[in-house]
Amino acid sequence: MMKKTTQAFIGSAALLLSSFAIADTNAAMAAAGEQVFQQNCTACHSADPSKNTFGPSLVGVVGRQSGSVPRFAYSDAMSAAGLTWTEENLRQWIADNEALVPGTRMRHVSITDKAKQDYLISYLKTLK
Ligand code: HEC
Repeated sequence: MMKKTTQAFIGSAALLLSSFAIADTNAAMAAAGEQVFQQNCTACHSADPSKNTFGPSLVGVVGRQSGSVPRFAYSDAMSAAGLTWTEENLRQWIADNEALVPGTRMRHVSITDKAKQDYLISYLKTLK
């Protein structure tokens, strides 16, 4: 009887620990992504919802309709793109934005490293 309780206890402690580990991994990925963002994106994009700088605010971009930030003057190409910023589309965009939306006004970026893309997308998800 005693033994079973102990086992159950150890089992749930292990489960708890592994969910902490997952939370830690997400936080670490987002932190790494913030670095990638600062190096490659902040020159033109703000993480502040009320600010459009040279590019549209990226707050809430994951899942958003492309070209939909109020008061931002998108290119004709971007206004007509009709994309949803799913993870997959974001991945393609940061790997080669001009290939995804020919004629976009955003300077060419090319982040092809899969890990860096993952980090950046984890970070973008935290911008709410
Ligand atoms: C040189 C300035 C510049 C840099 C650097 C830049 N962007 Fe942009 N970005 C823009 C502009 C300008 C637009 C609007 C494009 C258009 O209208 O064609 C844009 C649009 C976007 C959009 C579409 C948003 C929407 O509302 O539809 C996303 C997503 C995006 N950028 C992500 C990024 C990410 C992530 C990085 C860093 C890897 C980055 N951008 C780097 C200027 C930039």
